[in-house]
Amino acid sequence: MEHRALLVVPDRGTRAALRLLLEQHGVAVRTAPDAFAALGALDEWPATVLVGSPSTAGMDGMAFLDKIVARDPRVHFVALTKAGDVATAVRAVQRGAAGCIPDPVDPSQAWETIAAALRTESAVETASVGTTRLLGSSGATAALREIIHQVAPSRASVLITGESGTGKELVARMLHEQSNRARGRFVRLHCAALSESLLESELFGHERGAFTGATARRRGRFEDADGGSLFLDEIGEISPSIQVKLLRFLQEREFERVGGNETLRVDVRVIAASNRALKAEVRAGRFRQDLFYRLNVIHLETTPLRARREDIPLLAHHFVARFAAENDKEVVISPEALGALQGCEWEGNVRELENVIERAVILARDLIELRHLPADLGDNDAHSTVRVPGSTLSEIERDAILRTLEAARGSTARTADILGISVRKVRYKLREYGIRRAPGE
Ligand SMILES: Nc1ncnc2c1ncn2[C@@H]1O[C@H](COP(=O)(O)OP(=O)(O)OP(=O)(O)O)[C@@H](O)[C@H]1O
Ligand SMILES: [Mg+2]
Repeated sequence: MEHRALLVVPDRGTRAALRLLLEQHGVAVRTAPDAFAALGALDEWPATVLVGSPSTAGMDGMAFLDKIVARDPRVHFVALTKAGDVATAVRAVQRGAAGCIPDPVDPSQAWETIAAALRTESAVETASVGTTRLLGSSGATAALREIIHQVAPSRASVLITGESGTGKELVARMLHEQSNRARGRFVRLHCAALSESLLESELFGHERGAFTGATARRRGRFEDADGGSLFLDEIGEISPSIQVKLLRFLQEREFERVGGNETLRVDVRVIAASNRALKAEVRAGRFRQDLFYRLNVIHLETTPLRARREDIPLLAHHFVARFAAENDKEVVISPEALGALQGCEWEGNVRELENVIERAVILARDLIELRHLPADLGDNDAHSTVRVPGSTLSEIERDAILRTLEAARGSTARTADILGISVRKVRYKLREYGIRRAPGE
């Protein structure tokens, strides 16, 4: 599981140093400006470690610590205390802090303290409660939430269909989190991304020597998901021979590893998703009817965003808050911009809305206005640029690249990702603007 740290550290320099340190160790980092923002951020983004200074966290530091500890025992509070202030450090630990880092920060010592807090995570992780939320006030979304709640406890297979970006994976996670198998793992396998033979060994595992390159025995995802849920994404893409093996598992609950004779039994709930109408695939003879019925014991359908526009304001505010916190900014959205979002077609559904807002948050100073939205919003052309009256296209491009680069802390890869262009193009443009690459790249 990804490790996440939330930093509530007012001093810019210390915050930057800690961010760098954590990111170097592969920890995902977000920041919050104060204790109140931190509590909000944790609702959206459950972190495993919170680094906060108990003296300047925007509410009485010890009260902040108490709140975090009481709120969720899985969040480890690492207190940043003044070097030499032993009394505060001791008090923090007595009240539930997982450790203390003396300020000014010594990186290697700080990492040891944080790593220790992260290590204790796995022990409590299994007691996880559902954190994934399906936002939206429309009747369709409310009904979906209710159905998820009702069907989550059973082991019956679920088939989720719906357009791309409508929340199928989110629904699958909720089914897992709200079931009594939440203590087990949620294992996801993207069926379209793998060749037939790879998919088979990913699913069922393989014995040593089962095929060229199988130098050791390997467990499959079914074994990994024992006691939990296996999410088979893009199920419509699997080949006839894998269809047969999957059918056997769903009927008998047993399978063999590739190249193995031992029959294994696991307790796994299968959740499958497809953005194609699987029934049509059955009629066309590409998908086995018997497998379809086994998967389709419960069928959930996600609704395209354009058919539930009432959900857009709530989703938009949610994404603005999330990306603002991620980028350490305070940003809100104007009524005009929100109106424009509500009028769009959204062929990429919620994912597209999410991407549009991420970019707008980065481009805007503190208010998202129409000009921060893609000019061709609704045309579904990913390579759009920002409409700024009175600027030439190349000025707009330069502005977008530089501001995104700044928000991405100098990462050309991340900048390319956000703007939907190649890294090469970003670097080429930077050279054109006479800017040398950011240090450390
Ligand atoms: N109702 C919702 N509330 C909050 N976030 C949502 C909602 N619906 C979708 N999202 C977010 O939108 C993004 C896309 O959702 P998801 O990946 O579940 O879609 P999908 O249907 O699996 O898409 P695809 O078919 O392209 O794989 C995710 O970041 C998800 O968290
Ligand atoms: Mg998906």
